[in-house]
Amino acid sequence: MTLATIALEARGLSKRFGALHVTQDVSLALHAGARTALIGPNGAGKTTLVNLLTGMLRADAGSLHLFGEDLTRSDASVRTRKGLVRTFQISSLFAPLTVFENVFIAVAQAGGRGFSMWKPAARERHLLQRTEALVVQLDLQADMHRPVGEIAYGRQRLVEIAIALALEPRVLLLDEPAAGIPSTQLDLLHRAMDSLPAEIAVLMIEHDMHMVRRFASQVAVLVEGALLMCGEPREVMAHPQVQSVYLGTSGRERFEGRLAHA
Ligand SMILES: Nc1ncnc2c1ncn2[C@@H]1O[C@H](COP(=O)(O)OP(=O)(O)OP(=O)(O)O)[C@@H](O)[C@H]1O
Ligand SMILES: [Mg+2]
Repeated sequence: MTLATIALEARGLSKRFGALHVTQDVSLALHAGARTALIGPNGAGKTTLVNLLTGMLRADAGSLHLFGEDLTRSDASVRTRKGLVRTFQISSLFAPLTVFENVFIAVAQAGGRGFSMWKPAARERHLLQRTEALVVQLDLQADMHRPVGEIAYGRQRLVEIAIALALEPRVLLLDEPAAGIPSTQLDLLHRAMDSLPAEIAVLMIEHDMHMVRRFASQVAVLVEGALLMCGEPREVMAHPQVQSVYLGTSGRERFEGRLAHA
């Protein structure tokens, strides 16, 4: 597999909610190892697009291929099993369970697929080791045995990433991983993003332009359900149409750097 391999390819995705054409003929390709940011004003249809990609919502039209396999008609659980994994804009953890337990459940879910031939004791040892490795990767050791609902929100979001990684993604879709994280805790997330396996294609919905610049080698801009453009971050952010979209929204203050000063 080369880095030019197309990991995820959506073609002509469309979705209507009644009169609202929330996704309009969106075509998007992510290469293996891609680091793509999906930006756009509130209500542009970013989460809906992720829901269409993962199969949580069924598209009215369009197709979806994962490493060349047609998954257009596959439901969400099949897509996840094939390696198309997402996190949510709003935390979706089991608050009373510990960090370790939350991650373990996801590891066991994925491990149940790959290790059915193993003897139970060896299988359990492997699952525990895998859980621990993810806890270490996300630097969550200090909170490992605390109920997830009691740890800092920024660290809860890291648990969500650990869970997504437990599901062995080939394509990872992150819906606003920085949402609600205090700026003092953002370095945790930066480190987590840096620790993602290089070969995974990642699409991250993000409003924070510092985060986008730091993370993405490609930026896709969604406006009113349609893809306005997709390209190299500097080029996209300097584009007059992108600037005018952002300067016209309440998200302006979050669109820092050259746009906020335009
Ligand atoms: N299930 C639904 N039924 C009807 N309308 C919906 C539904 N889900 C989303 N919408 C509408 O579709 C539009 C796009 O919503 P979506 O959540 O995809 O936007 P977004 O770009 O993720 O916004 P944000 O930046 O606020 O997260 C909004 O107008 C929203 O109200
Ligand atoms: Mg959203």
